[in-house]
Amino acid sequence: MRSTAMKSLSFALLFACATSLPQPARAASPEPVKAEHGMVVTAQHLASDIGVEVLKKGGNAVDAAVAVGYALAVVYPTAGNIGGGGFMTIRFKDGKTTFLDFRERAPLAATKTMYQDDKGELVKGLSTNGYLAVGVPGPVAGFEFARSRYGTRPLKELIGPAIKLAREGFALEQGDVDSFDGRTERLAKDPAAAAIFLKPGGKPFAVGDRLVQADLAASLASIAEKGPDAFYKGAIADQIVKASAEKGGILSKRDFEQYAVRELEPVKCNYRGYDIVSSPPPSSGGVIICEILNILEGYPLSYLGYGSAETVHAMVEAMRHAYVDRNTALGDPDFVENPVAKLVDKAYAKEIRDKIDPFKAGLSEALMPEGFGESKETTHYSIIDDEGNAVAVTYTLNGSFGAGVVAPGTGILLNNEMDDFTAKPGAPNLYGLVQGEANAIAPGKTPLSSMSPTIISRDGKPFMVIGSPGGARIITITLEAILNVIDHGMNIQEAVDAPRLHHQWLPDKVFMEPYALSPDTRKLLSAMGHDVQIDESWTIWGQATGILVGGESLSEIEAGGGARYNGGVDSRIGAGAARGY
Ligand code: DON
Repeated sequence: MRSTAMKSLSFALLFACATSLPQPARAASPEPVKAEHGMVVTAQHLASDIGVEVLKKGGNAVDAAVAVGYALAVVYPTAGNIGGGGFMTIRFKDGKTTFLDFRERAPLAATKTMYQDDKGELVKGLSTNGYLAVGVPGPVAGFEFARSRYGTRPLKELIGPAIKLAREGFALEQGDVDSFDGRTERLAKDPAAAAIFLKPGGKPFAVGDRLVQADLAASLASIAEKGPDAFYKGAIADQIVKASAEKGGILSKRDFEQYAVRELEPVKCNYRGYDIVSSPPPSSGGVIICEILNILEGYPLSYLGYGSAETVHAMVEAMRHAYVDRNTALGDPDFVENPVAKLVDKAYAKEIRDKIDPFKAGLSEALMPEGFGESKETTHYSIIDDEGNAVAVTYTLNGSFGAGVVAPGTGILLNNEMDDFTAKPGAPNLYGLVQGEANAIAPGKTPLSSMSPTIISRDGKPFMVIGSPGGARIITITLEAILNVIDHGMNIQEAVDAPRLHHQWLPDKVFMEPYALSPDTRKLLSAMGHDVQIDESWTIWGQATGILVGGESLSEIEAGGGARYNGGVDSRIGAGAARGY
């Protein structure tokens, strides 16, 4: 032990002599993108360009977020959408914050057991495929709510670039083609979807092909002309309701007419001096990120080191406890009482820490609350403008290409968000989440989400904008990017790239991305009783997009600062880009 310690000390001294100043550890990631006036980081480069153009012309971060939201609906159809739902967290230049919920609502004809058969068994595919899986979409209402309240530019100007891209089409690059990967069969089942997203003969697109979306261009043009009424009260709603009725769905015109955006107080907490602002219910994201951070604050993670068995053990146990709360206690705030204050209380975190054995894995089964019965595609983008207004948006169709259906004539892909509800207590959903009554289906109710658009500030100034897709893993992906910056000294690009791990209470397994942990660390964790599994399904590990303000990493900031805005787009995203000016 002593000689190992001596050896690492002499290596450290050698390193210190060679560099003279203490340097942060560097991982194998490209440099973050740097800019002084504004930064837009999204999952598709054309959408990032559109966002930066809005900023350059004097629009604010909310204007850019609206333009990007519409653009991604065209250039990133696997997740970008106007037929799904999402959340927007805003931190204004004066430090005020707000949160917009434009997530899907259950149709008025929805029932608690609508995905079960007469015997109470779940009918496979019903909550994920076709019109019965569709919740009432929110983005058109959400973007307009944001723009009219907090933006500065006319809708027509912000939606214009998206209309042009849909009408004229754009050439697909490798990253775009990858986002269609494995979806051919699903899209082929719906003639309206196949006509747009597959080539004649049902073949998938290849690099260099052009994706033209004439119907979507027309739908967007009518929204630009008439505002959200075109979607919720006009022809678009009629077309969706008609297709739904013809194909076994339950959407009604009233569902669309009564759709309303909710403006909510974001969830707030403080982690090691950093102020975190994130998504409140109907998302579990902000609450559970705060709960995990509060638990982890009691451990010296920076000292224990990234990827060490002790760090991983603390993270896994914190996740285990917090996901029990996620899956059993949270739901739509208009329908259930959410114990948010308790869950983000530091005293509650201490109670949990006291239950964590430092040497032994906990047992998920032992945390089963009394009376408890027994993904993929979302996208996140981060924006900051010259004045320091920051916007984080996560929106989704839920599964890749949602329910796999397009209402004929609209060009709009529809979500399968109904699967985020508890279709049956104790039965895992698309993301393996085992949930309870608080998230049961009810008419007009919003399913519990994990989406976590998050903005962090320090000393009253914006510090980090972060979020990711990834289903149930969104929470731990966002959390790990935060820990990587604050505790492990990574720059923003390294922080979003670093290999990840995840635990969600049930199943009682530690999932790790390939290479996340060394064989030695895995052995130590197994000896503590952890069941560590490598999860190679790369799509489920999310695609984080982040911005760090004042330098590319904490050490650069503390050494006097670097570029004002530093953007990092997850290397797991093929087509994404951080763009600044
Ligand atoms: O709202 C949620 O938590 C899910 N519908 C998100 C789905 C998702 O992230 C899929 N992407 N990988």
